[in-house]
Amino acid sequence: MAAPLILVLNGPNLNMLGLREPEIYGTGTLDDLETLCAETAEGLGVSIDFRQSNLEGELISWVQEARGRAAGLIINPAGYSHTSVALMDAIQTLDIPVIEVHLSNIHQRESFRHHSYVSHAADGVICGLGFAGYRLALIALSDILEEDQ
Ligand code: DQA
Repeated sequence: MAAPLILVLNGPNLNMLGLREPEIYGTGTLDDLETLCAETAEGLGVSIDFRQSNLEGELISWVQEARGRAAGLIINPAGYSHTSVALMDAIQTLDIPVIEVHLSNIHQRESFRHHSYVSHAADGVICGLGFAGYRLALIALSDILEEDQ
């Protein structure tokens, strides 16, 4: 049987990881994060499709394309977490497990980051654990997918 596919989406400015506010987001790059996710996925027996976009519409199209293709979704919507009803609506139409991840603890930061539209549509949320949050999201999704079998 083919390994289940987990789509890992990253929103705006996450391509700047390593350069962007390292005191908040750390010094690792998006490539480092992809490597960590790929290694974790391999160990779990799942495959990943890891992507980043600065464009809201592109993220929405990728969420729509997950239908019938991906077994689970991990998404760090970045700034769109706090603004995008449209991204939330797109995620809400999926019938696969969805985990929202933030590198930083959004509840410890400015009040405008405390609310995430995407959290309304996500099954679980991990924040404040840096890159490890993605690892944990992959482990959780792989557990959920195994339980569902
Ligand atoms: C972020 C938190 C958001 O508030 C911010 O806009 C980001 C990154 C995080 O991973 O901590 O771009 O999603």
